[in-house]
Amino acid sequence: MLEPKILKDIESAFRQFGYEAEDVFNAIAYIYSNIFSIKASEKLSGVLEKGKLISDIVFQDDCLKKTINSYVKKDKDGENLTIFYQYFLAKRFRDISGKFFTPHPIAMQMVKMLPVKANAVIIDPTCGGGTFLKTVREQWKNIPCHLIGNDVDQMLICLTELVLKINKNHQENTSLLTSNIYQPNSQIQSFFGQIDYILANPPFSLPVDIFTSNSRLFESGYRNSDALLIDLSFKLLKPGGRLVCLLPHSIISNKEYQNLREIVEKDWYLTAVIILPEGIFKSTASTTTRADIIVLDKKKNEQVDRNRKTIFANISSLDIPLNHRQKQVTTNDLENLLKNSKVSEILGI
Ligand SMILES: C[S@@+](CC[C@H](N)C(=O)[O-])C[C@H]1O[C@@H](n2cnc3c(N)ncnc32)[C@H](O)[C@@H]1O
Repeated sequence: MLEPKILKDIESAFRQFGYEAEDVFNAIAYIYSNIFSIKASEKLSGVLEKGKLISDIVFQDDCLKKTINSYVKKDKDGENLTIFYQYFLAKRFRDISGKFFTPHPIAMQMVKMLPVKANAVIIDPTCGGGTFLKTVREQWKNIPCHLIGNDVDQMLICLTELVLKINKNHQENTSLLTSNIYQPNSQIQSFFGQIDYILANPPFSLPVDIFTSNSRLFESGYRNSDALLIDLSFKLLKPGGRLVCLLPHSIISNKEYQNLREIVEKDWYLTAVIILPEGIFKSTASTTTRADIIVLDKKKNEQVDRNRKTIFANISSLDIPLNHRQKQVTTNDLENLLKNSKVSEILGI
């Protein structure tokens, strides 16, 4: 694990050569591609070429070269790579743009909410650094599947590509797209009706007024990113497909969303509402935004299964510190919840 002190030392070593931010990340990305013999796509190659030019200069500093190489070599799951990205590229804008990553302990439990199924097609429509896709791969090991990552930010798609290629699982097929999910292009539209599972931590509560394709919640007056994510997910999923996503707590708690909740329950089974404690994004961004995990299953035709049950849970502890006073956390309510046999039966896991 990369400590803040090491990141600061690396930052000041690069500064001595006049490089910072994206330049540092590009040079580090180049080292990853070298050490893990990564065959890059055309877009990622552009990033790596820039990184090579910089690394040829800064790695005249032998000590810096050794330090970075040692952290890269042991980073077989790409965890340090994501930390490098967040430190050098995202830290200046993540709080205002909402580009913060899902903490790994939460992603791990969200992935467990997908019943394992050979040849499943799984998409993260706002994949950032590929946390969810990487976690599916860790948990599904030898199960063949198709992983699809989409993000409007080209640089993040390059990061996802690197993360997934560091330790490629040959059982999986990967597609990476750069569509704006609020104006889905033909790339993403080609997956409409083809997806088994969606994992998402989309931007929260962004006003959106530009959606062009027909969208049920949008047309009902919910002109924001949360409603559009649900509408897009409905289009992407096969009947019976599952959406596991983080959404702002207001969707569940606020009166103004009552109509949205009623519309959603016409098309979907509400399988779980898991209220997370305040502070879950403290480790990846300094925001206190409240979020819930919502699990929705797309109904098949107009059928109504009256025996379906919904999990409602309120989580108070997770495997991450929720504020700066909390140093060590010993309980993980979310992990314990999924171990409960009634809960796993409802989720079908
Ligand atoms: C909160 S981050 C989550 C990243 C990742 N899913 C994770 O869990 O770590 C939201 C992501 O949505 C992406 N995003 C924002 N607007 C988007 C849009 N219109 N279309 C596609 N992706 C978008 C951002 O670039 C960012 O990576």
